[in-house]
Amino acid sequence: MIEMIGVKKAFGDKVVLAGVDLRIAEGECLVIMGPSGTGKSVLLKHIVGLLDPDEGDVRVDGTSVPTANQKAILEVRSKIAYVFQNSALFDSLTVRGNLIMGLPEGHCRKPEVDCEAMAQKALGHVNLGVDVLDLVPAELSGGMQRRVGIARAIIGERRYILYDEPTTGLDPVNATRINELIASVNRQVEATSIIVTHDVPSAFYLADRIVLLADGLVQAEGTPDELRTTTNPVVREFLDSAPTMEVA
Ligand SMILES: Nc1ncnc2c1ncn2[C@@H]1O[C@H](COP(=O)(O)OP(=O)(O)OP(=O)(O)O)[C@@H](O)[C@H]1O
Ligand SMILES: [Mg+2]
Repeated sequence: MIEMIGVKKAFGDKVVLAGVDLRIAEGECLVIMGPSGTGKSVLLKHIVGLLDPDEGDVRVDGTSVPTANQKAILEVRSKIAYVFQNSALFDSLTVRGNLIMGLPEGHCRKPEVDCEAMAQKALGHVNLGVDVLDLVPAELSGGMQRRVGIARAIIGERRYILYDEPTTGLDPVNATRINELIASVNRQVEATSIIVTHDVPSAFYLADRIVLLADGLVQAEGTPDELRTTTNPVVREFLDSAPTMEVA
């Protein structure tokens, strides 16, 4: 379970998180929405200890991330996959090399580990063939790069998968494909996922529960159905300003 308890974070005078409480249950798919610059990426970075809160606590399976020692933080990170915005693949590595980076350090040197089989299995989950293994990212389309980014996240079969804006910048057809892929990964891998997006159709398609973050606080949370019918003015304003809501 991932918990954020009263998390506050400011950069200089700028308060970004003003006391965020969140709890993500095992197996859940939580979508975090909110306007640009509200601290969604900052929030994700707290979960893996890339940022520490000024106040409050972040716990992964009971371990307090901000106060964890080096060994404990590595253990926390070994449970979490992070799909960065724009895939963030290593340009100079082949797809195989990129996928192997998703495995724990030194994993492939263990004689009992068949890295090639793991890479092929991860590609299968994202509907890519083994023919891409020897290509470098520049030889792939943007949509394929996203899929490799997701394959790299799931190859290590980690318990938690964090997705930061997985569909931003993709055309609607590719965005839909990535959403279907995330939904299918959620079913197959039994991971707990947190997806940050400002794409309302994606959120409603993927989420078990949606959280709306604005002005440093959780303004609303609920199932897609609860949010769709809410009269909360902050939620209504956010949803009504989004382009479409038909995909549900
Ligand atoms: N390391 C940092 N140092 C200073 N300011 C930062 C740092 N990281 C983030 N910020 C600021 O925190 C605020 C929230 O940033 P964040 O990237 O979390 O927004 P976001 O909700 O993810 O936005 P978007 O939807 O555009 O990705 C921004 O004003 C940003 O400039
Ligand atoms: Mg962001």
